[in-house]
Amino acid sequence: MAPTKPRGHSIAFAPRIQELLDRDEKVFRIDPAKVGVADSRLMAEIVAARPVLSSERSVYKPAAGSDIPHDSATRTIRALGRDAMAGIRKPPPPARGMAGSWPYAGTSYLRRWLFSADPLPVSLLSKRGVTRSDTLSRLVDRAVTRWPGSAGQDGCTALAGLIRGADDPVERKQAIAMYRRATATLCDGVAALTGNALWLMGPERDRPENRADLTAVLWETLRLLPPAWMLYRNGGAAYTLLHPEIRPEDDVALFPLLMHRHPDYWSDPLEFRPERWDGVADPEKAPAFMPFGFDGARCWAKHLVVPLAERLLTVALDNRLVVRSPQQEAQVPLRSLLSVRFAAQVGT
Ligand code: HEM
Repeated sequence: MAPTKPRGHSIAFAPRIQELLDRDEKVFRIDPAKVGVADSRLMAEIVAARPVLSSERSVYKPAAGSDIPHDSATRTIRALGRDAMAGIRKPPPPARGMAGSWPYAGTSYLRRWLFSADPLPVSLLSKRGVTRSDTLSRLVDRAVTRWPGSAGQDGCTALAGLIRGADDPVERKQAIAMYRRATATLCDGVAALTGNALWLMGPERDRPENRADLTAVLWETLRLLPPAWMLYRNGGAAYTLLHPEIRPEDDVALFPLLMHRHPDYWSDPLEFRPERWDGVADPEKAPAFMPFGFDGARCWAKHLVVPLAERLLTVALDNRLVVRSPQQEAQVPLRSLLSVRFAAQVGT
């Protein structure tokens, strides 16, 4: 497959991602202990074959030495939904906060927008300077455990309310971990998606016809540059009957990124064409399109991600956020979230 060339811009993927994109097969061995899958039907069968293990989860992996109980997981997602929807109804922070290195500038901007109303020390849980350091994170966790805030404080998020309302120390520690992971997953994911869309739209992003349907722009971005580009399953025992390449001792990597670009599934697969989503009532029902996972392990926050990204993209375009560098070819490094790297400035 040739590199993506959307609207005059090109993308240089990290070599290990490019190697995967260069393969034609839909099921292939990556190394002696890992099989890669880009086949739509096999991916769905693998996800359906067994539930995700708690160790394979990201937001809801164990915290404070125990699994996250189901009712606390659902309370967290409901609180996050309330906070995200209340947040985007508030006026956005000053647009200059979007200037700088993307996707990080987008992440910090969203955090300020959605979660800065929480008082100290809770608001530090989602601060980028803190989340990047394990030591600082531990110190902040301890501070929040001791001073979780008091009921009736103005402007607190529902997620902060779950920390305050915890009944015992383990529940409180888990609520702190949930706050950090949920805010990080939301802000990092939405910033990655928005940054990828800004890059794919290219220098023509201000033209009125591109402004017409930002929802379609985002679905097309989720196809060509899905932030969740690889899903991982440890151990192949449950999958050996599904394909002869998979052995019990293998791990399995599922690649929406490859499936979304395969010519067997898509016409002009490498072209950025938001119009292909015109009139598609439910993009998630499109064959071979799975930006939020498959039935059985589908993303719990998928209803939040596109509306939030659309709001952030609108603010970026209204404030004429432009890519300062690179002018031609941007890098996509090997990370768990797929995101284009560029530097942006506001209102030139
Ligand atoms: C741009 C943002 C996001 C994207 C692209 C995304 C994508 C995905 C994908 C592809 C899966 C399937 C994973 C698999 O089968 O291994 C998934 C599952 C899931 N996601 Fe998301 N997600 C996003 C944000 C979030 C957020 C903010 C939360 C919650 C705070 C969340 C919670 C979940 C949960 C609970 C699952 C089910 C897997 C499990 O049980 O742990 N996601 N997501």
